[in-house]
Amino acid sequence: MGSILEVRDLRVAYGPRGRGAFRALDGVSFCLESEEVLGVLGESGSGKSTLATSILGLFRANTIVATGAVLFEGSDLLQAKPDELQRIRGKRISLIFQEPSMALHPTMRVGRQVQQVLAAHGMKGRSALNQKTREVLETVFMEETERIARSYPHQLSGGQRQRVLIAQAIACGPSLVIADEPTASLDPTTQMEILGVFRALRKRLGLGMIFITHNPALLAGMADRLLVLYAGRVAELGPAEEVLASPKHPYTRSLLESIPPLLDGPRDGNKKKLPSIPGDSRPSSLPGAGCPFEPRCPERMDICKTRDPQLVNVSQSHTVSCFRYENQ
Ligand SMILES: Nc1ncnc2c1ncn2[C@@H]1O[C@H](COP(=O)(O)OP(=O)(O)OP(=O)(O)O)[C@@H](O)[C@H]1O
Ligand code: SF4
Ligand SMILES: [Mg+2]
Repeated sequence: MGSILEVRDLRVAYGPRGRGAFRALDGVSFCLESEEVLGVLGESGSGKSTLATSILGLFRANTIVATGAVLFEGSDLLQAKPDELQRIRGKRISLIFQEPSMALHPTMRVGRQVQQVLAAHGMKGRSALNQKTREVLETVFMEETERIARSYPHQLSGGQRQRVLIAQAIACGPSLVIADEPTASLDPTTQMEILGVFRALRKRLGLGMIFITHNPALLAGMADRLLVLYAGRVAELGPAEEVLASPKHPYTRSLLESIPPLLDGPRDGNKKKLPSIPGDSRPSSLPGAGCPFEPRCPERMDICKTRDPQLVNVSQSHTVSCFRYENQ
């Protein structure tokens, strides 16, 4: 297996320029092997969506700096020209967002919306487009494909709309799919169904995937490796089973302790409130120097305020950014 994506020292900051600039990604590096699923885990505001969009060279308004490299199929996407990025997006790399109703056109039948993706990337001829659309929809829907193709988004359930987005994402046979909290807006049962669709696709299509979530429960059995983001930095990166079973970074440990008890929790309105990690990671509460997790860390030491911890190996393929593991 070779790498299909290499992200090197990615830094993205939002304005204003100067001292008020906010570093949403602060030196993120990782590789993705072909057919590998990388889970990206982090709280709200940790930079997950910034990572997803930056890989595709999509920068939000207010982005003032984007440096580093995103190497994909021989090019650096941060340096790529707009037409090259246009060819890659949706064809070689697809992005699935969290909110299906926002991503679909409300007054166009969904089959047509899948066709549009195929046509935008060069497929021609009505019968070829129809045939391919049917095939793609059949990959994500077990039944009723014809009816679904003829439906408008509002005639479908949230889970069905999310399947349509997945169909669009895989339509052109990408080698990488980035899913940014693809189940977050769904009820627990539908979340499980959609996770099942991702698992099946992974087996069937041999996709590389970056699966972004704030909920570690979704990653077990799904991700091969796990990258934990905190305040735009890699806190921990390693084999998913190892990180989930034996987290090393104090932040990862806290996150796993606050794991929702069960996805399929009670639906009678008495859902348990999730325990949360005390403190927050908003820019205003981050320390100027040292480990960004220091103000919230139950294991902090004097050194933690003095300088940034480096990523160190705790095993061959498992790295952690924490002074507790330096010089071991
Ligand atoms: N356009 C923007 N201008 C200024 N700051 C931004 C902008 N977009 C994001 N940010 C800030 O950058 C940080 C990272 O945002 P991002 O959306 O990547 O986080 P996230 O991990 O995806 O969060 P969530 O789980 O809530 O989706 C946040 O603190 C956010 O407020
Ligand atoms: S470097 Fe220090 S503050 Fe940061 S996570 Fe490790 S022990 Fe906690
Ligand atoms: Mg996000």
